[in-house]
Amino acid sequence: MSRMTKKTKLWTIEEEDVREDHPGILEAAELLKLGELVAFPTETVYGLGADARSTSAVEGIYAAKGRPSDNPLIVHIADRAQLTGLVSETIPAAERELAERLIASFWPGPLTLVLPVRPGAVSPRVTAGLETVAVRMPDHPLALALIRAAGLPIAAPSANRSGRPSPTTARHVADDLAGKIAGILDGGPTSVGLESTVVAVGSRGLELLRPGGVTQQALRDAVPDVPLTLAPELQRQADASPGAQQQEQAAPRAPGMKYAHYAPQGEMRVITYGPSTAARDAVPDRAAALLAQAKRRGLSTGVLTYEEHADRYPDVDHIAICGSLRDLSTAAHRLYDALRSFDQAGIEYIVAEGCPMEGVGEAIMNRLMKAAAYRIERID
Ligand code: TXA
Ligand code: MG
Repeated sequence: MSRMTKKTKLWTIEEEDVREDHPGILEAAELLKLGELVAFPTETVYGLGADARSTSAVEGIYAAKGRPSDNPLIVHIADRAQLTGLVSETIPAAERELAERLIASFWPGPLTLVLPVRPGAVSPRVTAGLETVAVRMPDHPLALALIRAAGLPIAAPSANRSGRPSPTTARHVADDLAGKIAGILDGGPTSVGLESTVVAVGSRGLELLRPGGVTQQALRDAVPDVPLTLAPELQRQADASPGAQQQEQAAPRAPGMKYAHYAPQGEMRVITYGPSTAARDAVPDRAAALLAQAKRRGLSTGVLTYEEHADRYPDVDHIAICGSLRDLSTAAHRLYDALRSFDQAGIEYIVAEGCPMEGVGEAIMNRLMKAAAYRIERID
């Protein structure tokens, strides 16, 4: 596959026109079969797809994204039968049964399961040499039609340049990857707006590796008898999150910060707050004060806020309104476009208001803390 600049095809496909034999979907599927890279929408974010069995195709993903190759990829499937070919035959019965229950509750949908991999099922570049593979079945007709038409398991990370916010529109993908990939299927803006939840299925229950479109509460409700633990990085984040009691060493430290993520070019910080209502209500004033200070230092300023607080920032250069605090699914949907808007506006200093750790708020705070490289300003 050529690494040189190539012409990136764009197919725009309306939802009512999605069929496996749509000419655009067929062409995209053929390119995937040839080892080329094609971006496509899922319900979470746009993915950058490649044949998961082909090492050269998967190497193309890492090259196009500029992604460190020790960070493994999610394999996307369209049918239950495809899962059988991907996972080990020797999974203990209890783990197999737990996976089945989660699949029955959440697939197709934004839940990725990490399971023991069947040796040889996918390129070792997909799993980064691990003995597990991450698999999900996206809940998007275009993604499912493409995977079926290709007849392949499709490795697909988010279709952004490494470190940038994930793409929620075809435009975002083109901004990052045009000239580097064979094609982009445009199915309009994604609905969830944040990546899938990633859980490892193990003998001691579930370990949450990344919060996302399926909330922790939804997982607990689906398998109430199963222990759910947080990966160490997520536990540290929870301690530093809005509403948490002050901890000795609340802010997450270096481990888990290996990859810069979701970050705008400007210096960003995020405001969190203690359990009291007074602390929560002080957030816009603190944000405005930090922004005024930065402005006095001659920096261009931007704030990530919510509809309810949009009129609290009369002197800020760029206001990104990230949905409503009353319905955090709207904030999830808007988050990555809001983060990208700071770069478009050339903003040098950014403050993001934290949101409550309720429902998808956990995933939003996870992304905000990473985007801020864990520069956290806490109000008590
Ligand atoms: O919503 C999503 O999941 C999107 C869309 C395109 O499906 N994909 C996505 O992929 O977010 P990516 O590559 O940006 O994130 C994959 C995540 C990473 O956090 C990676 O470390 C984790 O899944 N992961 C993949 N394989 C793993 C494995 N075997 N063990 C543990 N974590 C794994
Ligand atoms: Mg990603």
